[in-house]
Amino acid sequence: MPTSDAAESGSVADDAETSHGFALTERLAARQERGLRRELQPVDRVSARTRRAPDPRGGRPEYGEERLVFAANDYLGLAADERVRRAAREATAIGTGAGASRLVTGDTGLHRALERDLADAKGTERALVFSSGYATNVGTISALDPDVIFSDELNHASIIDGCRLADAETVVYDHCDPDSLAEAMATRQRDGAADASWLVVTDSVFSMDGDVAPLSDLCDVADRYGAWLMVDEAHATGLYEEGGIVQREGLTDRVQVQMGTLSKALASQGGYVAGSEPLVEHLLNAARSFVFSTGLAPPAAGAAREALRIAREGPRREQLWENVARLREGLDSLGYDVLGETQILPVLVGDRADAVALSAALRERGVVAPAIRPPTVPDGTSRVRVAPMATHTADEIDDCLAAFETGGREVGLR
Ligand SMILES: Cc1ncc(COP(=O)(O)O)c(C=O)c1O
Repeated sequence: MPTSDAAESGSVADDAETSHGFALTERLAARQERGLRRELQPVDRVSARTRRAPDPRGGRPEYGEERLVFAANDYLGLAADERVRRAAREATAIGTGAGASRLVTGDTGLHRALERDLADAKGTERALVFSSGYATNVGTISALDPDVIFSDELNHASIIDGCRLADAETVVYDHCDPDSLAEAMATRQRDGAADASWLVVTDSVFSMDGDVAPLSDLCDVADRYGAWLMVDEAHATGLYEEGGIVQREGLTDRVQVQMGTLSKALASQGGYVAGSEPLVEHLLNAARSFVFSTGLAPPAAGAAREALRIAREGPRREQLWENVARLREGLDSLGYDVLGETQILPVLVGDRADAVALSAALRERGVVAPAIRPPTVPDGTSRVRVAPMATHTADEIDDCLAAFETGGREVGLR
């Protein structure tokens, strides 16, 4: 038996002549050196206030003091909502898991009800749910099998991986820039490539910049060439109008593939595609992450359905937008440079060490908000990403602002 160290590092056994192992200890050390080593930090519950534990590795977490969470994607605070929890519990009557792929025996009436509600919110003929947002993007893009994909340079990793899996030629256009897209399409057309199918793909709300893609202009460019537009509404579903940004901009009939997650404002797990009947029928036949993966667990479907119902009612959304406005105004008046125009408030710091120091100073003052650094964002644009929730009280928003005031002063940013 190799020792765990030897197994971990992939070091060569005494009698082996060469190694075909994986040298994981060395690879982890290299990550550490580049400042790219990540850590898990368990929390005691998913809510606007939680207690966190240092990484216990294989052991039991030891939670520290309660902190205010300004780092979650549970924007409406519905993961802790009693109505959503009840819906998840009630769905366990169907089963705790789907038990098989939807195409075998894992398809239930609850999946169909959730899909009808999603299609209704997104104004489409049908919707199809997958077991994660990641699986939705990789499965959908590869099943469409485009000849060329035009992808925004800041698209989410699951879109990038979908492009890789599709094995299409991927042309990256400048972030949120329809002119750059138009130029890329014109060049492709001029080159006379005999492509059958072009797919333009973009996030609607960008999770690290908090900005919004110019969807109407992107539709105009895509229409000019008869290309399809796919929009990832992960950070918009349930927050804007009754659907997402596509609905807010009145573009339901111009976006062929509306994708989103159930895992952020809908407080659950899973992803969806909403679109035409042929699109959904094609995906349930051809998207490998749908066909060869167990159906969404019924409690996740039940929770997402109830969360969507609550989101569509409106008051929770209004609470969120009030909190966003209070926090943005407060940060502005403290002199911080806050990017974007959505519920995600990236506080631009610039230097990577300063962003880490500010995040640590906030943590000492009871506020969790992560530093985002290169390579996730370009050099010189390190930031602290602040995401308020609908369930934060006005006092909690003010506590967060107070932490930014004194924490920022302590690290020399104000
Ligand atoms: C824009 C975007 N798309 C897709 C995903 C993947 O969704 P999920 O976390 O549900 O797998 C995420 C989540 O981080 C995201 O931010």
